[in-house]
Amino acid sequence: MIQIEKSFMRKYLLPAILLILAVILSACSPKTAEQPQVSDVTQELAEFTLEELAQYDGKDGREAYVAVDGVVYDVTRSSLWKGGEHNGFTAGRDLTEEIKNVSPHGVSKLNNIPVVGRIKE
Ligand code: HEM
Repeated sequence: MIQIEKSFMRKYLLPAILLILAVILSACSPKTAEQPQVSDVTQELAEFTLEELAQYDGKDGREAYVAVDGVVYDVTRSSLWKGGEHNGFTAGRDLTEEIKNVSPHGVSKLNNIPVVGRIKE
């Protein structure tokens, strides 16, 4: 009888206790406390008025930024936006309508472009 109880303990009871302890410990550990949340990262982004955005026209060594749907993208390092110009469009502006209704590619081309801020409401 004692033999059976010992092997039962070793086989089931001890692993079960260890499992419960592991679950309790992992539930108590502060997993995400140190990680910035997505909303925090968005809040850290710069805010631009359209007037401020106009200074980033890619001319005379200035950075080239464009805004689409309230998000400001940095196209300075794109070879297709040299000098802030791209197929007749100039950086430093909100080009939401143009990228959606005039360009042949739509907004998908922005996927690999760095975001630097958003437009001030
Ligand atoms: C007549 C209008 C336009 C034409 C013909 C045009 C054409 C093109 C072409 C051919 C490419 C390269 C596509 C590829 O690599 O697969 C491109 C890329 C791109 N276009 Fe346009 N585009 C136009 C307007 C616009 C507008 C209004 C925007 C506004 C933001 C824009 C933003 C971009 C961006 C961000 C890229 C990607 C650049 C890169 O990855 O380096 N385009 N465009």
